[in-house]
Amino acid sequence: MANNLQVLGIESSCDETGVALVEVCGNALPVLLAHALHSQIEMHQAYGGVVPELASRDHIRRVLPLTEQVLAQAKRTLADIDVVAFTRGPGLAGALLVGAGVACALGAALKKPVLGVHHLEGHLLSPFLSADPPEFPFVALLVSGGHTQLMRVDGVGRYTLLGETIDDAAGEAFDKSAKLLGLGYPGGPALARLAEQGNPAAFRLPRPLLNSANLDFSFAGLKTAVMVQAKKLAAVQACAVEALPANVLADLAASTQAAIVEVLVKKSLAALQQSGLQRLVVAGGVGANRMLRQQLNAACARQRLRVHYPELHLCTDNGAMIAMAAAMRLQSGQQSASKVYAFDVKPRWPLDAL
Ligand code: KG4
Ligand code: ZN
Repeated sequence: MANNLQVLGIESSCDETGVALVEVCGNALPVLLAHALHSQIEMHQAYGGVVPELASRDHIRRVLPLTEQVLAQAKRTLADIDVVAFTRGPGLAGALLVGAGVACALGAALKKPVLGVHHLEGHLLSPFLSADPPEFPFVALLVSGGHTQLMRVDGVGRYTLLGETIDDAAGEAFDKSAKLLGLGYPGGPALARLAEQGNPAAFRLPRPLLNSANLDFSFAGLKTAVMVQAKKLAAVQACAVEALPANVLADLAASTQAAIVEVLVKKSLAALQQSGLQRLVVAGGVGANRMLRQQLNAACARQRLRVHYPELHLCTDNGAMIAMAAAMRLQSGQQSASKVYAFDVKPRWPLDAL
């Protein structure tokens, strides 16, 4: 592989448009030169969740201005780009098509190859952009809005699924519980903020599969338990759930967060123990959760295990992780970029199928 490759990455799988430029120098860890992000949160807020059609239209508006911004920040021009990477899946089909279409058009116009990246591989490898990058092998806890998985990671593209959720993802449990407490969208960060003021032991909510022998998760029952508890409290006070006193809502939020975090921490440690590995990597939006980080840090410190996270601002969706995953795949020889611009996307795409 030629030295000093500049890889442009475009993320458009859901409600953030992200663009980034990463530089690959030989075998050294690729370096992030610049990245830019536009969050659609404000736009979707009025609807209480992501509206796929609006997401696609907004990606179209944002992606080229963000690309110009990234190139200007990195002091590069279009002509400097060697490879154009994009999120190929999983995600919203229309939203993915925007990133794929723009990436392939750019590639064709610049006569440069393109490379489709797995969104979760982007999350998984995003800690390599941090000041404390991990080393292979490690156990990865992937916790995003759509996925909750424990993987054994032996190298780039060498992923073995150890366990996953059998129903809702951890992010979904945060989002759905937040919605029924009247906290709106995006629910995870809002619930986490409110939980800071509450008592995590106020309500005993279920910890599904906490003591199961396998490494699977189940979060669907938790939101039902939160709803039952909230409705019981609201009935006593003769008010709507959202109108419950602030301290009661905070206690509910804190108890919900505590239930999710306890299961994630216990299963991550079990995965480390079962695999005999010493290193945990946490990635995906829920990896930004403060309580999860605190409890994982404490548990890993007690057992002399290492734990790595992406930088906080790179936990949720962004272009840097897509450019980084592409760069690391190219560097490791797992994949080469292609000048075939007949793109397709994969809205459903299991990571261990890579
Ligand atoms: O990885 P991500 O940005 O998008 C997906 O690929 O799904 O993850 C988004 C998920 C959402 O469910 C969001 O509520 C959750 O991550 N999230 C959080 C926090 N920040 C984002 N959940 C709990 N605490 C947070 N601080
Ligand atoms: Zn994501």
